[in-house]
Amino acid sequence: MPLVIQIDTASAIHVHRQIYDAWRRGILTGRFVAGDRVPSTRELAGTLGVSRSTVSQAYDQLVSEGYLETVRGSGTFVCRELPDLPLRTDRVARRRAAPRSVTLSLYGSELLEDYPDDVRRPGFVCFSQWEPDREEFPWRLWRRLLARHSRSPSFGVFGYADEIRGDEALRREIASYVGRSRGVNCTPSQILVVNGSQQGLDLCARLLFDRGDSVIVENPGYPGAIRSFKAYGAALKVAGVDREGIVCQDLPDDARVVYVTPSHQYPTGVSMSLNRRLEILAWARSRAAVIIEDDYDSEYRYSGSPLPALQGLAQEVPVIYCGTFSKVMFPGLRIGYLVLPESLVPTFTRAKRLADNFTPILEQMALRDFIAEGHLERHVRRMRRLYGRRRAALLESIRRHLGDAATVYGDDAGMHSFVRIVDPELRKRADRNKVQLRSAQNCFLDGNHPYEYLFGFSSLSERAIRDGIRRLARH
Ligand SMILES: Cc1ncc(COP(=O)(O)O)c(C=O)c1O
Repeated sequence: MPLVIQIDTASAIHVHRQIYDAWRRGILTGRFVAGDRVPSTRELAGTLGVSRSTVSQAYDQLVSEGYLETVRGSGTFVCRELPDLPLRTDRVARRRAAPRSVTLSLYGSELLEDYPDDVRRPGFVCFSQWEPDREEFPWRLWRRLLARHSRSPSFGVFGYADEIRGDEALRREIASYVGRSRGVNCTPSQILVVNGSQQGLDLCARLLFDRGDSVIVENPGYPGAIRSFKAYGAALKVAGVDREGIVCQDLPDDARVVYVTPSHQYPTGVSMSLNRRLEILAWARSRAAVIIEDDYDSEYRYSGSPLPALQGLAQEVPVIYCGTFSKVMFPGLRIGYLVLPESLVPTFTRAKRLADNFTPILEQMALRDFIAEGHLERHVRRMRRLYGRRRAALLESIRRHLGDAATVYGDDAGMHSFVRIVDPELRKRADRNKVQLRSAQNCFLDGNHPYEYLFGFSSLSERAIRDGIRRLARH
């Protein structure tokens, strides 16, 4: 067996210790594996130019600690049962029995269900994703803003943040943006910058209920929220969704937390009527409940004007407004925000600190300028026109090629459409004709929904959309 052990004669560490360390490290890092033969003391002593007794001393210690074993008449070998298992590499672990399983927390054991990723299939027209169109983002400008702050003389962006809640100037920009665009009523001190709205939802789940407490979700609803609440032990109560949004008659008496997507219900795309907004606020007031309002893509409304956020209508009722830059900029940014009732700010801030300390500062600074200099709203206006045309192309193609089999739900808004297509052959045809579909099944908390689909259109050109729907119809 080749063995390269560097002996440092000038070192204060005794040679037998150096030999011992080299073998031990080699075994723990997987360089030598169980059953490997080791050179005899004579051989190694000769190779290293040291006395045999020095090597024997090292070997004796390795044997006594269970790294090596001697087999009478055969020689010395790396032991079959090795100590210090946690330090060993995959290579060793793979050759040996897997370590015993670890007992998970209740939260961990709720995560055993796997959620397959939706991977783009090469050559397919992909309706199953609806990210912002990456080609359209002003990357050069964004890079300039990042560079501006990474050159700042204080290098403050590279240290620990002064403010866990997020950069103060950014919070001012966000407060003013949500005020003018969504009618959210808040001061910058109520804003908590988070790593995407998913972190906002996770913090809500940690802080607003205990295991076994009832939490109301829309059905169908947003799997990202539902799974998180469930993993934290929520007793999920479902409320149906109709043309006016969540059905308030379905709201049970015993829940203190309700999660809704009022401006563009996920996944159906309907917006909550004013009546329903008032109803849910009255319900929350009488039950002392808190509302989580997920306003993930309300910027994209292609006709009519959006109703202001529920948060802006609420008096007395605590509403946690959850916003994100994933849809109006790009999801890799991982910046979202919560607008919290004042009384919840300290607790959410402490929880955010324990979760990940704070959101990266450099991106926060660049984002602050992006909003303050008017780029965000300019970009949103441009994307609204573009996505509006793409949605129109989708609807027109569906009408033309799929006819009565298809019903499109929801408002003229968003980056995806919820479509029911009653056609048992559709999936097979999609596969054959290279169209990637997304079933809406995982948004439902009851029953089988084989004919409901989500069609993303924001990152496809009008041409690709028309081509994709045409292919869907092709027999
Ligand atoms: C309804 C809804 N809420 C929240 C999110 C999460 O967004 P973020 O990227 O900010 O975590 C999404 C993402 O698609 C969403 O559809």
